Amino acid sequence: MKNELVIVLDFGGQYNQLIARRVRECNVYCEVKPYTMPLEEIKALSPKGIIFTGGPNSVYDPASPRIGKEIFDLGIPVLGICYGSQLMAYLLGGKVETAPVSEYGHTEVEVDPSDPLFVGVNEKTVCWMSHTDYISQIPEGFHVTAHTPVCPVAAMSYPEKKWYATQFHPEVMHTVEGMKMLRHFVIDICGCKGDWKMDSFVEGTIAQLKEKIGNGKVLCALSGGVDSSVAAVLLSKAVGKQLTCVFVDHGLLRKNEGDEVEAVFGPNGPYELQFVRVNAQQRYYEKLEGVTDPEQKRKIIGAEFIRVFEEEAKKIGAVDFLVQGTIYPDVIESGLGQSAVIKSHHNVGGLPDVVDFKEIVEPLRMLFKDEVRKVGLELGIPDYLVYRQPFPGPGLGIRIIGEVTEEKVKIVQEADAIFREEVAKAGVDKTLGQYFAALTNMRSVGVMGDFRTYDYAIVLRAVLTSDFMTADAAQLPWDVLSKAANRIVNEVKGVNRVLYDCTGKPPATIEWE
Ligand code: XMP
Repeated sequence: MKNELVIVLDFGGQYNQLIARRVRECNVYCEVKPYTMPLEEIKALSPKGIIFTGGPNSVYDPASPRIGKEIFDLGIPVLGICYGSQLMAYLLGGKVETAPVSEYGHTEVEVDPSDPLFVGVNEKTVCWMSHTDYISQIPEGFHVTAHTPVCPVAAMSYPEKKWYATQFHPEVMHTVEGMKMLRHFVIDICGCKGDWKMDSFVEGTIAQLKEKIGNGKVLCALSGGVDSSVAAVLLSKAVGKQLTCVFVDHGLLRKNEGDEVEAVFGPNGPYELQFVRVNAQQRYYEKLEGVTDPEQKRKIIGAEFIRVFEEEAKKIGAVDFLVQGTIYPDVIESGLGQSAVIKSHHNVGGLPDVVDFKEIVEPLRMLFKDEVRKVGLELGIPDYLVYRQPFPGPGLGIRIIGEVTEEKVKIVQEADAIFREEVAKAGVDKTLGQYFAALTNMRSVGVMGDFRTYDYAIVLRAVLTSDFMTADAAQLPWDVLSKAANRIVNEVKGVNRVLYDCTGKPPATIEWE
């Protein structure tokens, strides 16, 4: 089935992915494309609408990203946002200049509720602004549909042509009625019906995978994380026992995690597939003996994973397809747009080199994380797996400061399980981006009963974040912290002190190593 499509042309704005996600929240399929995409290719995609993103440049700078104004001859509705709005004004004969007063952050904007973009929006509404240039003269045919005291053209439109532009960012949460505006654009203005639903994605993808794979043999590295779990289940529904999932237990997983993964994907679980659990714990502990440098630990853990996987792959022999749990932000970030950032944390990057296979399949390639979760639920994967917080590939190896030993792994596993239990009991788990316990390599003096102790300090970390690039330390209720701390020192042997990490990122990172 071919879905209705809206495309986001990326001019380097930091919210390009967010715009696509918001459009998809309207049940309309949306892809981010570079602004350099040739007009013919855009036409061939037959998009129902085009959105120009923001960007850091000034349109009057000759080096700024531009497109030809022929795009407006396609008869496709266009929404320009921030830089995109200025580009629209500039290309169609308006004027853009440096604003006498820049606007940043929450701004009260007065809108014209009779404009198709603003139907049902409050006349005075709070929007998110971030600009130093502004449209000082609108092109012919347009009229101004919103303004602020210092921005005469906060929005403009030419409804007959279906061209709309906003200086503010409707896609960010701070624009209180932004979703209403985007919905008006994609549904009412572009005329999309909203056919992008996860149940039809699941059905369609399983059918496509069946056709593509035929009788082929498929191999998947299963980590127990959301992406690889959902990819594995999709494949299992499509080709059953032709799929082999290899799960490497490196002994650096959270408490009971290995068994939990096995319970779902192993022979007693609900899915039809071949499951191989490799208990490589001792191998990893031996390799990590005496190693204290964080980067060296990461390298050892990564290299060992590749080695273990290679051994398993050799036992299985040549396969036709290797499954990867790549998701859409990875695709965008590996260089599609202007705002390319290459991922530094790559878990399975080395796999294709050591497996004998014909083709890679990436069934989640076009999905955002929240969509992957919806697919997971649709497939009946248990909630605790679907909503699992991110867990680094090197696992507890980078949550144990200094040398990793089996004994220290037990300590941090127990402390972490207690902390997670208390956070969940208090009902604050859904509000946190990530939360865990780490083991410092510091020992200090304490007293227990009548005895002096000299034991380790556990540190608890909980952060609020949406993108994991920046984060704030969460202000956890004191009750939760003190209950967790009490339980940890009482129940976990070898710990006599619990600390809470109040640092944001930057300057700290989320993980301790
Ligand atoms: P930092 O510590 O860099 O973490 O603030 C940001 C996010 O990335 C995760 N993380 C990793 N994930 N391999 C991974 O797969 C790694 O080596 C790694 N290091 C950090 C971290 O848990 C957080 O979600």
